[in-house]
Amino acid sequence: MQSLLAKLAQDEQHATAVKSEAVPQLSNISVIAVVSAKGGVGKSTMAANLAAALHKHGRSVLAIDLDPQNALHHHFEAIPGQERDAANVGIADPDLDWRSIGVPSTTGVFVVPYGAVDEKQRRAFESQLDNQPQWLARQLSDLQLADGAIVVIDTPPGPSLYLQQALAVANVALVVSLSDAASFTALPLIEGLIKTHTAERADFIGAVYLINQLDSSRQLSKDITQIMQAQLGEQVVGVVHRDQSICEALAYNRNVMDYDPNGRGCLDIQRCAKTLLSLVAVNAQAEQPA
Ligand SMILES: Nc1ncnc2c1ncn2[C@@H]1O[C@H](COP(=O)(O)OP(=O)(O)OP(=O)(O)O)[C@@H](O)[C@H]1O
Ligand SMILES: [Mg+2]
Repeated sequence: MQSLLAKLAQDEQHATAVKSEAVPQLSNISVIAVVSAKGGVGKSTMAANLAAALHKHGRSVLAIDLDPQNALHHHFEAIPGQERDAANVGIADPDLDWRSIGVPSTTGVFVVPYGAVDEKQRRAFESQLDNQPQWLARQLSDLQLADGAIVVIDTPPGPSLYLQQALAVANVALVVSLSDAASFTALPLIEGLIKTHTAERADFIGAVYLINQLDSSRQLSKDITQIMQAQLGEQVVGVVHRDQSICEALAYNRNVMDYDPNGRGCLDIQRCAKTLLSLVAVNAQAEQPA
């Protein structure tokens, strides 16, 4: 983490100097885009908690909120004395430097919020995303992140310019799905979008699935989980149980890794993080734990 922060804190003049129109260089990092066709399945929750779990494995982790809901930062507590105006400022204001808007959190994850913008600003930002399909790639490349750093990107549900930008840089698309019929039947939609936006990219490892909110007390939830596991096989990186601690952590602006480290949901998320790590290991040199 220190190496990531050191990079981010580098002299702004140097950062400006290295910004260029050159092809974005992202081969030293791994990017996980957290996606879904349906809303409310737990993308932001899983993005935030997986980011913290990945950091526990000694990796530098940057969590980016690419969703106008600007909710990702709520899952993190800022390091005292390093608070930022995360409720307001963020990436949607193109004039702001990501080093100044990012929030160093107590989990060790560096969180980059979307920011609160009015409709006019949001439309201007989205028009920029539309005109520059490589916008996010360039932003990440210009950050010059440490070798082996992992970037976790939270996205809005369904087709959007945000999803397109995230998939343009993703090495892995993590599809979050509930263990219910509506989520299951929506899978082909997100699979089609992933295919469209990652086609012909040699550095795209593939789509994997996280089944969220398994309720062991309900037969239907267990049955649908089983069907999904049978159909998707090894592409399922994990199953996360419905766990009250996960909602409670959010209510206290905390990450479940801090809030209930031995809870069922937290242990499930840690297992998913481990599987994700083994997937992205082929893509980037592992960092040594600090
Ligand atoms: N495993 C879980 N156990 C209990 N509650 C959960 C779990 N995962 C997510 N939740 C709860 O489900 C709700 C929706 O989660 P979240 O906001 O992360 O979904 P989302 O997919 O990001 O939504 P949107 O599509 O609107 O961005 C939240 O109240 C969250 O606390
Ligand atoms: Mg969300």
